[in-house]
Amino acid sequence: HQHHATLNGTEVSDVRIPLVGLGTWPLTGADCTKAVSQALESGYRHIDTAQNYANEDAVGQAIRESGLGRDEVFLTTKFNKESHGGESAVRQAAERALDRMGLDHLDLFLVHWPNPDQGLYVETCNSLAELVGTGLIRAWGVSNFKPGHLHKILSAGLVPPINQVQVDPLHAQRDHERANTEAGVVTAAYSPLGRGGELLQSAELSEPAERLGRTPAQIALRWHVQQNRIVLPRSANTDRQRQNLDVFDFELTKADMERIDSMDTGKGARLDADTFGH
Ligand code: A2P
Repeated sequence: HQHHATLNGTEVSDVRIPLVGLGTWPLTGADCTKAVSQALESGYRHIDTAQNYANEDAVGQAIRESGLGRDEVFLTTKFNKESHGGESAVRQAAERALDRMGLDHLDLFLVHWPNPDQGLYVETCNSLAELVGTGLIRAWGVSNFKPGHLHKILSAGLVPPINQVQVDPLHAQRDHERANTEAGVVTAAYSPLGRGGELLQSAELSEPAERLGRTPAQIALRWHVQQNRIVLPRSANTDRQRQNLDVFDFELTKADMERIDSMDTGKGARLDADTFGH
């Protein structure tokens, strides 16, 4: 895989993915449509949603009304555990998502969680991979797959181009990243700003921000993209959306990067994906 830290993105399985995408959880309804419309106007070309966010209709509306060609926007959604299983279950999940969005294809379709309790994720990944090339989806991938889950599908010969997991400087999830990288899987980070909490107040981000004339959020996002990670920051605010896209014309030094690396608490996601919504 070729990786370049540019807005233009990273290439996986011959599909080019802009490195910054708009996260949409927990926006819904008109608020969500407005946030996505503003983002598209500001230059976003990558939007991330999920069946579980209950906003695919609102996201689809914004894309349809944007005036952009469908091929100008990279759109990801994810399906729930009820659709795990054979090819017809997964195909129906894609068709229903497209119905909700009023669109004719997805760029990336992800297994939202492995749900190991159901014991179906290997079969599900196989079914999903088979959907590529049908015209319904351009690429497949997984989300919230821990190294053990990843290894299980790799053993079945299934290499997902993307694993979307929660990553921020306080929760760097190095074990996930290492497993992904070793397998040639690109990591996409949700909640890359640590949900806008205490992370953005830290000296490790605010000091380089001051020196470079940037915001702490931009420093955090630059730390991600400088490691070739796709980021999915969520903001409903136009100024902050623009800030979050504008991270390609400055660089962090090795010392800055190492200082931010040192913030890792070694803990994983603080909130359980299944119950929290991501
Ligand atoms: P808002 O929508 O008011 O901008 P994450 O993507 O890590 O889950 O973080 C989302 C949170 O971070 C939201 O509360 C969002 O609030 C806030 N946020 C997004 N971008 C920025 C930014 N550039 N500066 C400060 N806070 C931000």
